[in-house]
Amino acid sequence: MRPPKTASWINHIPAYRPGKAKEEIAKRYGIENPIKMASNENPLGPSPAALRAIDNYKSKINLYPDTAAEELRIKAAGFFGCKEEQVIVGNGSDEVIDLACRAYLEPGDNAIIPECTFSYYSIASKACGAVIRNVPMDDGLKIDIDSIISSVNNQTKIVFLANPNNPTGLHISGNNLSRLLGSLPDHVLVLLDEAYGLFTRANDFKSGLKFIEDDKRILVTTTLSKSHGLAGLRVGFGIADNAIIEALNRIKPPFNVNLLAQRAGIAALDDTTFLKDTLNTVWNGMDFLCSGFRKLGLEFVPSQTNFVLVKVGKGARSVYEELLKAGIITRYMDSYGLSEYIRISVGMPEENRALMETIGKILG
Ligand SMILES: Cc1ncc(COP(=O)(O)O)c(C=O)c1O
Repeated sequence: MRPPKTASWINHIPAYRPGKAKEEIAKRYGIENPIKMASNENPLGPSPAALRAIDNYKSKINLYPDTAAEELRIKAAGFFGCKEEQVIVGNGSDEVIDLACRAYLEPGDNAIIPECTFSYYSIASKACGAVIRNVPMDDGLKIDIDSIISSVNNQTKIVFLANPNNPTGLHISGNNLSRLLGSLPDHVLVLLDEAYGLFTRANDFKSGLKFIEDDKRILVTTTLSKSHGLAGLRVGFGIADNAIIEALNRIKPPFNVNLLAQRAGIAALDDTTFLKDTLNTVWNGMDFLCSGFRKLGLEFVPSQTNFVLVKVGKGARSVYEELLKAGIITRYMDSYGLSEYIRISVGMPEENRALMETIGKILG
């Protein structure tokens, strides 16, 4: 018997490749407690307020959650400075990206995606039968705004921009974002992914949230996975003009955000101490890592996020593998076309120190 045939475009989609799990490396190399610096997770762990909320609500998981996640949307609207009806909650921001693709892309449409960015944009767009128009980065690995503008045509339905971008860590300045928005036609949805927006220290960063009141084409996505330590629970947001949110709500799976995720999300958004600690830990850790790379003479891309892209050179794969053997999980960037680079998520001070010492030893 032959397996049923998928839609014709499905077979050509490469599955998402996550960072390696601690358990896998522990087992493979017999290491008791590997250090994971591969998936841009929160090094402090989860928000303690979120943990308490989970404890308080765990006896209620026999009940369906609020499908509209109203309390969480109200809390998010207060946090992000928008109206409740401008917010949708997803099972991670990945789900919001998926909903946007399903709502706006028809087979044969195209989606504009910078060449070096978060891989799920391409997967979710292709799953709708869309064609990807990849736009090369500029010489400094920045998103090339002019090339994005000139790549748009009548068939373009979504432009994807991560700001700041993963895996480069670079941001688009407010001026460049305004210029881009001023040049794109009305029929294009601009998905501005701000998964790392709270980590930016650049004065010229401007959140897409500042534009949504006047610009009905923008969908800002953001997440509690990184800044609030809830990656394992999956809580992400889409924030946009009501018309976009209404469209996404029409096709959203019922009860998409589970009960514990909703309660933890509400508590985490109120946990301002945890967010402050997170930002301080990440910023100090980033400064430590960058000064270490300078001392080793390693080139890196100055980052506005909680991870940094380091140019290790031709031997990058073997440096990555040596780090794995030493129990430190980073991300080798060949699948992003950056075969000389590894990406490192900022860890706790002792983890950052271990990483620098080990890289120093590997590079001699
Ligand atoms: C740029 C970017 N967007 C979205 C996501 C997905 O986040 P979530 O955990 O909210 O699905 C990630 C995760 O690594 C990311 O790097």
